[in-house]
Amino acid sequence: MYVGEKKVFSGIQPTGELHLGNLVGALRNWAQMQDDYETYYCVVDLHAMTIPYDPAAFQAARLETAKLVIASGIEPKRSVFYFQSQVPQHSELAWVLSTITGIGQLNRMTQFKEKADRSGQNLGLLSYPVLMAADILIHKVHAVPVGEDQRQHLELTRDLVERFNHRFGEVFPVPERITPAVGARVMSLQDPTSKMSKSDSDVRSRLLLTDSSDQIRRKIRSAVTDSERTVAYEWKTKPGISNLLELFSVATGRGVEELASEYRDAGYGRFKMAVAEALVEYLRPVRQRYQGMDNAEVSRLMAEGAAEARRRAEVSMATVWEAVGLSA
Ligand code: AMP
Ligand code: TRP
Repeated sequence: MYVGEKKVFSGIQPTGELHLGNLVGALRNWAQMQDDYETYYCVVDLHAMTIPYDPAAFQAARLETAKLVIASGIEPKRSVFYFQSQVPQHSELAWVLSTITGIGQLNRMTQFKEKADRSGQNLGLLSYPVLMAADILIHKVHAVPVGEDQRQHLELTRDLVERFNHRFGEVFPVPERITPAVGARVMSLQDPTSKMSKSDSDVRSRLLLTDSSDQIRRKIRSAVTDSERTVAYEWKTKPGISNLLELFSVATGRGVEELASEYRDAGYGRFKMAVAEALVEYLRPVRQRYQGMDNAEVSRLMAEGAAEARRRAEVSMATVWEAVGLSA
């Protein structure tokens, strides 16, 4: 494992199945950052408890999520990869940070407002961003690869670092948000004005990392575009086509504008077919790795990851206890 100056943390919720937005907005950066950083990645099961769930299904979903993260290229030998609930220091630090967080700031969080409208309010949902800040800060990391939807949460984390350091001394670095230049916000295939999401009731709105090649082709063919004919990269007037162009670009490694001009007059049918084939190839290795995985082996890797994370988190939590006046 790489051990160096710069550290990275990110997390993903074990709610439902992972989709192309997760891969393109976050996971592909997680994988890439393993080359140059000391990386900590986490299936944030405690966060997922803030909306109603079924305990038996939860247990299985958590393992599925771990498998899909590994299939996306996270190597437990190169990263510290674990389940959040198995490292109690996340919750301890969340408590400490909660004492310097304003309720007004939490009330204004977009994700809180959206989820509270859908599933009702609870204290965990309100304090969700405080636990997220604790996730990021427990390993004192410098960078956090996430999609664009996490901007507000990262800003809160940075505010908390400044407040904490000012009051108790320089304990935490101020973490940077890392979002990809293309694909930071992958949109729904059925409504290109809202983001691709695990909670959308229409399964055609998202490509799952486990979808077969035929499912990928069908979903791209039925993707909502517009009534014109020209392929162009213009988010305001052509969000559906622009979304597909970004996905095409990520899957092929070619520039968005270059693809737009090549397919300008190809017609939407041919354009979509090319996008679908590129995505089939892009997702194939992820699906293949996933299918070859053994549940017992993954559980064992997760237990090892948690043990390592606990060792490290304990050391950094000690510096927090000392700073706040509670050292041993
Ligand atoms: P979640 O599925 O909400 O736990 O998100 C896990 C990661 O995927 C976070 O870094 C999100 O920002 C990212 N993500 C989720 N949905 C999208 C999307 N539609 N486009 C880009 N990134 C996303
Ligand atoms: N809130 C993030 C999401 O919904 C998940 C998350 C929890 C996270 N803790 C984190 C992401 C820490 C990055 C760092 O996607």
